[in-house]
Amino acid sequence: MSIRERLLENPNIFAFFNLLIGVKSRTKVIINEYVSPKSGDVIVDIACGRGEFSKELASTRYIGVDNNPSYIRYAEKHYSDFGSFHCCDVSDLSTSLNGKLIDTALLIGVLHHLTNSQARDMINDIGRHLSDDGKIVSVDPVFTPDQGLVSRLLAASDRGKYVRSIDEHHSLFDESVEICQSEIREDWLRIPYTHYVCVSRKRAKSGI
Ligand SMILES: C[S@@+](CC[C@H](N)C(=O)[O-])C[C@H]1O[C@@H](n2cnc3c(N)ncnc32)[C@H](O)[C@@H]1O
Repeated sequence: MSIRERLLENPNIFAFFNLLIGVKSRTKVIINEYVSPKSGDVIVDIACGRGEFSKELASTRYIGVDNNPSYIRYAEKHYSDFGSFHCCDVSDLSTSLNGKLIDTALLIGVLHHLTNSQARDMINDIGRHLSDDGKIVSVDPVFTPDQGLVSRLLAASDRGKYVRSIDEHHSLFDESVEICQSEIREDWLRIPYTHYVCVSRKRAKSGI
């Protein structure tokens, strides 16, 4: 692990970095424009980091999971009034769900940390646990042909080793769910950065 990666594993350093680049305002936009939560919805924040989304989703049944024990300890200490937190890998969601159906799965900044097969397995697993009108909201950095040099360099130097092109990103969603809305957003941070937002829903079963 590089020094930068080791520093960002610390929840307070990660938070300071996020504050500098303006991540907090992005959280509100994601919730208002793409999640639109209803009271009592089951919202699973997969790779929740320090659990900051929980505070903005206080009226829902929020579950946060992340495999970094320091982040989960921080979330439990500061946000346990707003939801429950579990330290586990994305490959082991069933235990945290405990039989609940998901109304919204949040994948904020995680797909680019996963290999294609880890990401596909996780998305298919979520698909099996989605309620009939449930959805997945994902946000990740992407490479696009016309993005600026700084955005491209920042995406290329991300801690996540699997930043993808839009086509590669779409190919992760081609089994149990389908993308019904997708947008490039370049206006969310104080630095030039290309986010790709996808909203996906369960694929309708074929009648055959
Ligand atoms: C860029 S951070 C995003 C955190 C949070 N969603 C946010 O938007 O602030 C990526 C997160 O993915 C988590 N993560 C990476 N690989 C994971 C895995 N295999 N299982 C669970 N969490 C993972 C990291 O610990 C980290 O908290």
